[in-house]
Amino acid sequence: MAEKNKFYITTPIYYGTAKPHLGSLYSTLLADVFTRWHKLQHKKTFFLTGTDEHGQKVAQAAEKAGKDPKKFVDSFIPAYKTTWHHYELEYNKFIRTTDPEHIKAVQYWIKKLLEKGDIYKSMYSGWYCTPCETFVTDEAESNEAPLCSSCNRQTNRVSEESYFFRLSAYQDKLLKFYKDNSGFIIPKERASEVIRFVESGLRDLSISRTTISWGIPFPNDPEHVVYVWADALNNYISAIGYGDPEKQEEFNFWWPADMQVLGKDIIRFHAVYWPAFLMAADLQLPKRLLVHGWIKVNQQKMSKSLGNVVDPDVLFEHYGADPIRYYLIRHMAINHDTDFSIEDLEQRIASDLADDLGNLLNRMLTLAFKYNLSIVHSQKVWTESGEALRRNSWDAIEDFEKYMNEGMAHMAVARLWRFINQVNSYFHAQEPWQLAKNNEVHFAEVISAVCHSLYDIGILMWPIMPKKMEELLKNLGVFLHYDQNYLEDIKNNRWDRTFNLFITQTLFEKPHILKEESITQADEEVSIEETKYTTIDEVQKVELRVGTIEECEPVVKSDKLLKMRVNFGEFGNRQILAGIKKSFSPEDLIGEQAVFVFNLKPRKMMGMESQGMMLIAENEQGDLEIIKPTHRVKEGTRLR
Ligand code: ME8
Ligand code: MG
Repeated sequence: MAEKNKFYITTPIYYGTAKPHLGSLYSTLLADVFTRWHKLQHKKTFFLTGTDEHGQKVAQAAEKAGKDPKKFVDSFIPAYKTTWHHYELEYNKFIRTTDPEHIKAVQYWIKKLLEKGDIYKSMYSGWYCTPCETFVTDEAESNEAPLCSSCNRQTNRVSEESYFFRLSAYQDKLLKFYKDNSGFIIPKERASEVIRFVESGLRDLSISRTTISWGIPFPNDPEHVVYVWADALNNYISAIGYGDPEKQEEFNFWWPADMQVLGKDIIRFHAVYWPAFLMAADLQLPKRLLVHGWIKVNQQKMSKSLGNVVDPDVLFEHYGADPIRYYLIRHMAINHDTDFSIEDLEQRIASDLADDLGNLLNRMLTLAFKYNLSIVHSQKVWTESGEALRRNSWDAIEDFEKYMNEGMAHMAVARLWRFINQVNSYFHAQEPWQLAKNNEVHFAEVISAVCHSLYDIGILMWPIMPKKMEELLKNLGVFLHYDQNYLEDIKNNRWDRTFNLFITQTLFEKPHILKEESITQADEEVSIEETKYTTIDEVQKVELRVGTIEECEPVVKSDKLLKMRVNFGEFGNRQILAGIKKSFSPEDLIGEQAVFVFNLKPRKMMGMESQGMMLIAENEQGDLEIIKPTHRVKEGTRLR
């Protein structure tokens, strides 16, 4: 069968009992990165995430909060959506297991298995772990409460009538499946614990409860609710229309999932129960499970009781989305546990992003503009050094693709950084600042080689830092349109582009120190009193620079706006619009210096882009005054 040109990816659905944290961000980010990676290849993509809202754990948390369970979970949904939005996580659907379509799909699945005989009714008696929502099957007969084999907490005795899923019937089929599909679990090393568990013997799985009511009612037996894992796992098919006759085509198009992302804590559910559930329903199995390790904080697991749960919103406010996306993808390893620390994060932003990548772009642009090279052509023939760099880019692209296709995003990025260092060495070794004065032709080649390299880097890194890479590409005069296979394009490695250079703001700023304790999730609301002040960090976020107004003209059809070309020295020229026409004529301003907000996001005014904001003050008569240094300073000088 021909490969469909589609990519369906899922994340675990998180318990709707708290706001998202760094761990849930990490899984969801991985899914976003792989979605974008396939978008680059012009595939149709579907990215699913959501929340797990039934079961005892949710019911107990709601009770503790004195809330109705549905209202309780409702209260966390906006926080998820806001955080995912901040981090540019472009999911296609946010499923909640309380959605009516999901409930119908689960009931449909149960009916189908009841008919087939893969679900049957019997008595269950055993030890139950509430935090994990699982029975301790190995010690069901023991008289003393055993500790839960996965979390080590105390279990409780439960004895009830229950529906069972005939898991035992799938033992051999599962083992055969793992054998025939050695790439099913990534990383491969994690497969052995799964295989060992299945080989040790599978008992039928209790999949209903009568002791709680917060769940999906069993078809034709409403005393029973569906066990939360049987409910939750099915979200991966209910979300794309399973069981709905009107959505059959949609379902057949997307299923099976191409990749399912999860943490190692829930591997058994996804690698054993889930495939068996699907086999029983005569459905294909997902192609791959990407199972990642833990993000730890100071070598410890993040947990509410330790008070070390890192709040993604605080990180976003302080560093912006892309540097955090970068750090999580590059420095958290998929195949083992990794420590997260603010100190390391800040150091990486400064060294990898601001120094290695940001400075490369910046130095190239500054030099090109200094010698009036804003349209950069390709070379018909590259000299040896340029050709060598081109070959390096070729190898880097090939390796990057290989690692991404293996699910090893952290290795792909690390490999690409080796290439970035090669570009830096090349740039340095060529001494283009000398060439500019005595060998214009070679100077143009060096700039072109760096532009082509940055283009490749911008495309490959787009899934990881979409906004920053769009900005980088914009500096090269490239705008992504998602209407072609960009990966194929750079793999052809023609290096035959013309770049139209353009300077915008500095790509990456070095971070200002943030205290470790301020990143954890606070339980208390910040009092109003505190919010009256701003902090020095906030103030330093605003980049004020002095520029010289070199051109100025009124904007036709506007009675307020003047359009200026402002020179910021080594930071280039900017087009800036200001609503000051009633107080100034262009002649008043040409040649004057003034202060501008330099890192304000470009805005459109009357259809024209304004790349900064001029500071002005209004006097008592209502006339405007510009703010300028009393003596001239170098263009681009930053205010502090
Ligand atoms: O288990 N490091 O939900 P959950 C990395 N509802 N990833 C982490 C992490 C950490 N420190 N902490 C959490 C559930 N995660 C079920 C899932 S799926 C049908 C039902 C991530 O809210 C990781 O992906 O406990 C882990 O598997 C998941 O959050 C668990 O989320
Ligand atoms: Mg958990």
